[in-house]
Amino acid sequence: MQDESGRMPRVKVIAIANQKGGVGKTTTTVNLSAALAARGKRVLLIDMDSQANASGTLGIEVESDQSLYPALIGEVLLEDLIRPARRRNLSIIPAHMDLSGVEVELTQSDSHLTCMYDAMAGLRRSNYFDYVFLDTPPSLGVLMTSALCACDEVITPMQCEFLSLEGLSKILYVMDQIRENGVNSRLKHEGIIMTMYNNTKLANEVIRQVQTVLPDKMYKTWIPRSVRVAESPSFGRTIMEHDPFGTASLAYQAVAKEFMARHRN
Ligand SMILES: Nc1ncnc2c1ncn2[C@@H]1O[C@H](COP(=O)(O)OP(=O)(O)O)[C@@H](O)[C@H]1O
Ligand SMILES: [Mg+2]
Repeated sequence: MQDESGRMPRVKVIAIANQKGGVGKTTTTVNLSAALAARGKRVLLIDMDSQANASGTLGIEVESDQSLYPALIGEVLLEDLIRPARRRNLSIIPAHMDLSGVEVELTQSDSHLTCMYDAMAGLRRSNYFDYVFLDTPPSLGVLMTSALCACDEVITPMQCEFLSLEGLSKILYVMDQIRENGVNSRLKHEGIIMTMYNNTKLANEVIRQVQTVLPDKMYKTWIPRSVRVAESPSFGRTIMEHDPFGTASLAYQAVAKEFMARHRN
């Protein structure tokens, strides 16, 4: 989408999306955001899941008066909700439980597709951030579709598991619909990040299938399954802070490098 002056804005908004739960969306949003921030990019993470897992992983306390909800219904400015995320170059808009109310309140409203895009207008104009990452909830409800309508690109984390491909085709279908109905005709499927990889016959077969169906989309780095990743949220740490030289930390840093190369910076 273009800004009001008709120029392409520089800030890129990327939704990390897959309607399946437990596939590594939040883990990928947090660690990719943090790895890019550590490389000098100005990054904003917007937690759009009422479970607030991204906020928790970064050790950010969630306060009830700082929810995205009032910004989605136009009562406050989204920019006023931005907080430092205790890491250089990284900011966050935390989530709050009340976000689940959006699903009920906005479903009937005309603005349910455009609420997030409208809320981000000032943020896009200001051009302060290089990248804005949206951590989305595990459903195809209002929050997810509004994120898909508001973003420039989608990255899909995918577990190396049976039925993962079916989940992928569903989100690609929804993206096609959003493009076709003109709400976000520039929406791009940027890529697929394979998560929780272990070197089994099944995982390798899933990877081979994705490579066959969507040859250019898959990031070359696969995120390995690692207990250190699973435990890092309970310490309020990214994987780079929790286990800097572990395989998953190195993988997320390699993904950040690939992301920058794919975005020519
Ligand atoms: N590479 C990994 N290795 C081991 N556990 C992981 C890995 N990535 C994510 N997890 C764990 O799997 C669970 C689901 O991940 P999460 O990122 O919350 O998925 P989603 O946001 O898609 O629901 C979490 O408990 C998380 O800590
Ligand atoms: Mg999540």
